[in-house]
Amino acid sequence: MLNNIENSPFTPGTPVPVDMFVGRSEQIEKILSYVNRAKRGNQENVFLVGERGIGKSSLASFLRYRISDDILGVHIFLGRVSSLDEMVRRIFDGVLKESRNRSWFDSIRDLFGNYIQEVSIFGVSVSFAPPEEDLNELVRNFPYAMANLIEKLKNKKKALFIVLDDINGIAEKPEFANWYKSFVDEVATHYKNFPVLIMLVGVPERRVVLSNMQPSLMRIFRVIEIEKLSDEEVKTFFDGAFGTVGVRVKRDAMNMMVKYSSGLPLIMQEIGDETLRVDRDDSIDLSDARIGIANAAETVGRKYLDPKVYKAIRSETYLAILRKIGYHFPFRTFKKSDIAKKLDERERKVFNNFLNRMRQLGVIERDVEKGRGSYKFVNELYPIYIFMESIRYRERTKKHK
Ligand SMILES: Nc1ncnc2c1ncn2[C@@H]1O[C@H](COP(=O)(O)OP(=O)(O)O)[C@@H](O)[C@H]1O
Ligand SMILES: [Mg+2]
Repeated sequence: MLNNIENSPFTPGTPVPVDMFVGRSEQIEKILSYVNRAKRGNQENVFLVGERGIGKSSLASFLRYRISDDILGVHIFLGRVSSLDEMVRRIFDGVLKESRNRSWFDSIRDLFGNYIQEVSIFGVSVSFAPPEEDLNELVRNFPYAMANLIEKLKNKKKALFIVLDDINGIAEKPEFANWYKSFVDEVATHYKNFPVLIMLVGVPERRVVLSNMQPSLMRIFRVIEIEKLSDEEVKTFFDGAFGTVGVRVKRDAMNMMVKYSSGLPLIMQEIGDETLRVDRDDSIDLSDARIGIANAAETVGRKYLDPKVYKAIRSETYLAILRKIGYHFPFRTFKKSDIAKKLDERERKVFNNFLNRMRQLGVIERDVEKGRGSYKFVNELYPIYIFMESIRYRERTKKHK
């Protein structure tokens, strides 16, 4: 049906709603057990790591739904935040927003002093806006402020579950590592009962950066990693998602969509979304899947690869090599020596540098299974996109001649 897409169950680029969430059961069990430890008064620290688009934020918001009613969960996106002041402000702001219109609001309201700001455009909302001196104070006395909050909440909430998502900006600051370390130390030495779990969320590089800055810091974290979904989980997702809009998926089409998803949640969402757009008869067949996947390759390329590759790589020679790979070897895996044969002398000279650069950018990786000199794109859609881009380039240059 034409209007399926209006209530599309697919959410490419935004955390998945609870009813469409698949997989991660092992990580969920673990984190919930740490939440229970926190509930018994142990301050807990979790570091959730995974590549971009692998589903960290989705897992964090799913967990917030899974924790029991007697735990207050706050999910804060730090994105570009790079100061402790702003980070701490957002934590209390999150608590405030989570508490407004709730039964426990009156018991914590005083803690926020006169700094609750009512914003009444587009409906009423509240935000926490203290002056700078008070914010500095909160940063310094964070454990104490938290302890007060817990005390005031204790009839309704037995623990706090605080997610600091996208710590990429703040984790670069040495202040952050130091602040966190002293927070944990102070809690350990001054408080018997501190039912707070803090979960940091970031890409693997952040973990390395943090541990270089404060080697002892990383010891306090329970590290949880998330990786690709299994093909089975991807299939479960597609079955569920297409099922909600009454669309059937033929078996060969399903296999193809699962294969191209490469276990990557973001790619799976893009493929589902594009394929649903193509469908006209509430049944996805092989041809719908093909077109959907090609369209998804376009979208993925434009959204994630284009800015990364075609803009980051200024060198015309690099671009020429990329087009040759796309044109001659539109596959997931390629051998260095096969590509080298297609290159001219200038291209061959920079070929090693090119490969290193592409690895740094997270576009390709070594294919260990295929042995030395073999590389593969990190997902199935990149080579398709690069192939289509090289064809487009050929068409464009032909016309100009
Ligand atoms: N467990 C999951 N089940 C279904 N879709 C998921 C799952 N995890 C992530 N997604 C989808 O994948 C994409 C990336 O997820 P997100 O949580 O934003 O990743 P990250 O925070 O790691 O960058 C989103 O489109 C989201 O809807
Ligand atoms: Mg995220």
